[in-house]
Amino acid sequence: MKRLVIVSNRVAIPGRRSGDQGGLATGLAEALADRGGLWFGWSGRLSDAPGTPHLVTDPPITYALVSLSHREFEGYYLGFANRCLWPVFHAELHLMHYDAASLAIYFEVSQRWTELLIPLLEDGDVIWIHDYHLIPMGLSLRKRAVQSPIGFFLHTPFPGVDLLRALPGQIRLLEELLAYDLVGFQTPLDCQSFYRALGFFLPEARREPGGIRHAGHFTGIESFPIGIDVEAVTHLARSGRNNRHGQRLGASLTGRRLILGIDRLDYSKGLANRFRAYARLLERWPEFRRQVVFLQIAPLSRIEVPEYDAIRQKLNAIVGDIHARYAEYDWMPLRYMTRGFPRSTILGFLRQAEVGFITPLRDGMNLVAKEYVAAQDPETPGVLVLSCLAGAAQELEEALIVNPYDIEEMAKALAAALAMGVEERRVRFRALMERLRRNDIHRWVTSFLGALACSAETAPEA
Ligand code: G6P
Repeated sequence: MKRLVIVSNRVAIPGRRSGDQGGLATGLAEALADRGGLWFGWSGRLSDAPGTPHLVTDPPITYALVSLSHREFEGYYLGFANRCLWPVFHAELHLMHYDAASLAIYFEVSQRWTELLIPLLEDGDVIWIHDYHLIPMGLSLRKRAVQSPIGFFLHTPFPGVDLLRALPGQIRLLEELLAYDLVGFQTPLDCQSFYRALGFFLPEARREPGGIRHAGHFTGIESFPIGIDVEAVTHLARSGRNNRHGQRLGASLTGRRLILGIDRLDYSKGLANRFRAYARLLERWPEFRRQVVFLQIAPLSRIEVPEYDAIRQKLNAIVGDIHARYAEYDWMPLRYMTRGFPRSTILGFLRQAEVGFITPLRDGMNLVAKEYVAAQDPETPGVLVLSCLAGAAQELEEALIVNPYDIEEMAKALAAALAMGVEERRVRFRALMERLRRNDIHRWVTSFLGALACSAETAPEA
């Protein structure tokens, strides 16, 4: 088996607190757990001294961790990646802040990381680059004559042409993507958006079965919906249910029914509308007052980005309004926390929730939705209320699918979830579990790597 080299900005570093690191790090950690390999990425530290990667071995994975300089952190991570690409890819154009200096630093980081990665590469490696932070690395590696197959996977949605038109440098980014042997997306819809973008911005690129040929090079294009390690999640959820935090949560409910949301605190997660929908439930169906508790855990994320501070303040205000309106001296309708918890604790909380309330305004996949299902007790499973704009909704059809902009519909779905009988819940749960098992994290890795091997063998144009 060839050695797998994964490159991503965020790395699930062993021994560091997990639970608030987002879906990419969780998914990749599960993906590498059996197969092993080299995982190259950001240490999470800032240092202006140029250094070589810090190697940490935790079999079967070797981590190669690099720091960012303060300038890179500002321009690359906070700047172009998270104030430009992230809002555009999540259809929030009004939140995009572009400046040319950040774009230049974004490219510089891929260039610098390429130079740091090359000495660690071995003959026969397969290289897999992840997410919007590092799109230019494929071409950088090729320019340095790296011969290995190189694939790319986008964890976020891929935006439509109209959004991309507003993104400075979009043509160069598309060309950079076509330097890969394979570009993978979360859903077929993302693939379609990519093809449309190529048709619009690079009409000379030629469509061939399974991909695109551009400047003589073939790039495979396919969707690979990321999954979870179902058995591991179920197991962790069972043990998390009974750990100290799981027991404390259970005791604190005093028989009330738990609705739970878990998301990084991000404007793409739709928390404001979610809170409003919950308030609407309490208003329209007063019989649920005092009977339910909505716990929203939203660990702080990218706090240096002003738009994240703005959403945080907005949510504080909405939560305050809901408390002022509905709280009673012996009942808090909404518990809202911005700290993270270890993964097993989060999974144990998910197991206790009668409703998983996951309503992003846009999301590449949303692994918490999948984890919620796998965390359930098969005898008394809860109900997933899921946004139609999360990639996961394209697979998890037996969830209650809602439009995250439609407050009334979300409130109704909450009421329906709370009223659903156990038989129907079991039927839905079994169907959802079957899908999760069929499309799990192992399948994600093997199908991506299989397709990468095929694409890389596609002959250059004669
Ligand atoms: C999303 C992105 C990931 C990112 C994660 C957490 O899932 O697709 O690339 O790692 O959010 O965000 P952060 O900025 O903390 O890495």
